[in-house]
Amino acid sequence: MTLLDVRTPAAALYERVRKVIPPIEWPAFEADIEAILRLKRERGAIVLAHNYQSPEIFHCVADVVGDSLALAREAAKGDAPVIVMAGVHFMAETAKLLNPSKTVLIPDPEAGCSLAESITPEDVALLRQAYPGAPVVTYVNTSAAVKAASDICCTSANALKVVESLGVPRVVMTPDEFLARNVAAQTKVEIIAWRGRCEVHEQFTAADIRELRESYPGAVVLAHPECPPEVVAEADFAGSTADMIGYVGKNRPARVALVTECSMSDNVSVQYPDIEFVRPCALCPHMKRITLGKIRRALETMRGEVTIDPAVAAPARRAVERMLAL
Ligand code: 13P
Ligand code: SF4
Repeated sequence: MTLLDVRTPAAALYERVRKVIPPIEWPAFEADIEAILRLKRERGAIVLAHNYQSPEIFHCVADVVGDSLALAREAAKGDAPVIVMAGVHFMAETAKLLNPSKTVLIPDPEAGCSLAESITPEDVALLRQAYPGAPVVTYVNTSAAVKAASDICCTSANALKVVESLGVPRVVMTPDEFLARNVAAQTKVEIIAWRGRCEVHEQFTAADIRELRESYPGAVVLAHPECPPEVVAEADFAGSTADMIGYVGKNRPARVALVTECSMSDNVSVQYPDIEFVRPCALCPHMKRITLGKIRRALETMRGEVTIDPAVAAPARRAVERMLAL
């Protein structure tokens, strides 16, 4: 006898996230997931989702998931006419820079980033005056206007490589002070840092890591390089969100602590049910502005389109493409 599978496509997806989404919460997501799957087909849209997105977005509606570098690379590929960025505004701007002819939607244009807020193009001009001749390496967590004022971009996955690729004794690195200091610890290149901070990662302390090791013996500790250098020093490994996921997949520790945004552990634990994830969790309020309901509305209304002044877009694109070419 064959039993018909009467579950909706969304209900079938629940199997994937059962471990991290309680059954009582699931019905609230189902209708939006169904609608988004349909709207993606109708609009020829793809959803790119950052590793910090909630599991119902990351596992149930995203076509591509990854760190900032992977999302930038994926944004440069493919022929979908519409890209929905389930991430923060600078990620959507980067996708638009690399796809000027496509429609890029951000489900909540207010989804910002404390790092992107910390610096303006005028600040970059002042840094150039103060350190003449030093190239400016700018983290992708910035506005297009700041990228346009820079020589080359980097992400947390390639910052060291970008700095060393320039073949100079001194660079200015903006805007993340901690990323700059963590890179400086690995290179002979002199790094002039800006004072920007990630409001999520700056909260972690070295004492937190020591307490975590006491409470969870044997836990392997992985930290994001936006954490303070003393936190990175206490960790077993530091890397971008994708590098952390890669470490977990390769080394399969029995117990692991991802010192980063909360949703990462949920998302990764779905794939590795045999690993115990300790959750030293900090929420990014900007990432959490993106919800299934807002993704659905963006696709229904085609509102939230990202536009960039062409005079800014051309030099900003150059800085991003220079990084991608490495
Ligand atoms: P990743 O590039 O490592 O994904 O980091 C992006 C980010 O915003 C981290 O806070
Ligand atoms: Fe910005 Fe930090 Fe949020 Fe990443 S986690 S988007 S760096 S505020």
